[in-house]
Amino acid sequence: MRTTQQIKPMAPKPTSIWQHHHILDVDDFTREEIELVFQTTQAMKEVLSRPIKRVPALRGKTLITLFYEPSTRTRLSFELAAKNLGADAASLSAPASSVAKGESLIDTLSTLQALGADIVVMRHPQSGAPYIAAKYVEASIVNAGDGWHAHPTQALLDLYTIHEHKGNFKGLKAVLIGDITHSRVARSNIWGLTTMGAEVTLCCPPTLLPAGLGEQHHHFPLVSIEHDIELALDGADVVMALRLQLERQQSGLLPSIREYIQLYQLTEARLARAKPDALVLHPGPVNEGIEIASAVAHGPQSVINEQVTNGVAVRMALLYILAGSQKQ
Ligand code: CP
Repeated sequence: MRTTQQIKPMAPKPTSIWQHHHILDVDDFTREEIELVFQTTQAMKEVLSRPIKRVPALRGKTLITLFYEPSTRTRLSFELAAKNLGADAASLSAPASSVAKGESLIDTLSTLQALGADIVVMRHPQSGAPYIAAKYVEASIVNAGDGWHAHPTQALLDLYTIHEHKGNFKGLKAVLIGDITHSRVARSNIWGLTTMGAEVTLCCPPTLLPAGLGEQHHHFPLVSIEHDIELALDGADVVMALRLQLERQQSGLLPSIREYIQLYQLTEARLARAKPDALVLHPGPVNEGIEIASAVAHGPQSVINEQVTNGVAVRMALLYILAGSQKQ
């Protein structure tokens, strides 16, 4: 008889492969660690297919989400993931907390530690903030997005979604279109996709390309730059439209939103340059009609909703692996 006590098929034991007490980015993840996340996610999906979608694997653990920026998908999926694994989950929205009275990040983290947090999932507008947090607390820190820098759990759910459809990454052409400069999702995906063996083409206006990446000899052998969207999409297997981060634009980077739409919007006509079975991804939230046409966002090649659904299972897998690697 199946009981809620079991995770079947048994998730692999992470001890020999997994090297992280925190999840700060995927730049230091090995291919084996990413494959462990895939296998564990598969086991979590099996749990989520049951009538009672819960196992007590994290009973006794406390997870706190600490968000200094808005979020829908990341925060809710971590909270659902924690509850599905039997953990105690609590959330703190910085603007509605003592941060508004001037409490520092370190004091806030010390307070969460004193309240018994085992895992703190944090989003912060400053790049690097989770790295500072990781120095000050015993709890595992999970970076849920820091400034322009990294969004590792988003990249892992993107990778898992691609893996579900395409299997192997070797030789896949993945095209990332849009606001690369301000995109923590793009940075983490570049690391993850290339670690798994995919070729990555970045497509954006020159002003939205991070410094150094436009140089002929940048440090990513599997990454190329193509400013022309039609050429970039030729033969693509995976197309990821990135949100134009209107809140982070500085003056002068874009002549106008209308020109950006004309030159870089992912339309049905442009998508036809990709392979017929190409996947369309978007991390969300989507600016429909700006970086992606509505017909593409809701079209047959779109896996945007699958990404959101997979976010819960991937985050369950990450919490399970992290908790398993913590000292008891
Ligand atoms: N993709 C993503 O990070 O979405 P949220 O801002 O809604 O969490």
